[in-house]
Amino acid sequence: MSKIGLKDYYDNLYQDNPNIFGNSSLIFLKKILHSCTFNDGRALDIGPGNGLTSQYLADVGFIVDAVDFSSNAFTAVTDFDHIKTHIIPIEDFKVKFKYDLILFALTAHHLTYNDFHKVIAVLQKNTKTSGLNCFRIFTSDSDFYRQSDKTFFYDDGDSLDLLYKDWQVIEDKLILAQASTSSAKNEIREVVYRKKY
Ligand SMILES: C[S@@+](CC[C@H](N)C(=O)[O-])C[C@H]1O[C@@H](n2cnc3c(N)ncnc32)[C@H](O)[C@@H]1O
Repeated sequence: MSKIGLKDYYDNLYQDNPNIFGNSSLIFLKKILHSCTFNDGRALDIGPGNGLTSQYLADVGFIVDAVDFSSNAFTAVTDFDHIKTHIIPIEDFKVKFKYDLILFALTAHHLTYNDFHKVIAVLQKNTKTSGLNCFRIFTSDSDFYRQSDKTFFYDDGDSLDLLYKDWQVIEDKLILAQASTSSAKNEIREVVYRKKY
């Protein structure tokens, strides 16, 4: 699907059901924040959809940039003093700050390998020392991957770790999940990297 086709797809999806993806990424985020030492600072939420996770980050004290290319995203966002919403592809987002926490939940598979690598390079540069990059990412052991044309980023168990080889892994878990939009069954890796220096 082209980027415009994908944007239209999400626009229509959210028009019919803004909460289609439920709260599994929110549960993941809460778990991370529960086990880490900071609960405020600056956060970047990539592809948050309705923005439940962005709103939660603001609720606990973060100043948040939320980036999603769907015009129908951010329906759960109420705190516009602490959350700046950007309706734009992450590939085009101009990063102006250094972040304590970056959340990339169930969105990486929409970026080509090339774009994903470029985006990660920018994100890593703009993460503060001891800051976190938190992923929920489909692995190559997923129906979505098997059905795809293999040009988009799925974690094969090595690719993401290689990009983060100088970072500390502080959480790493595989789960099996039923897709909200089809009968696909997907493996999701929940992994958190901390920047060492
Ligand atoms: C599967 S949903 C995940 C929503 C939420 N993060 C969650 O975990 O439940 C993927 C989201 O990424 C957004 N998205 C896809 N490609 C994007 C891109 N290149 N830049 C910004 N947002 C993108 C879509 O609009 C959609 O809201």
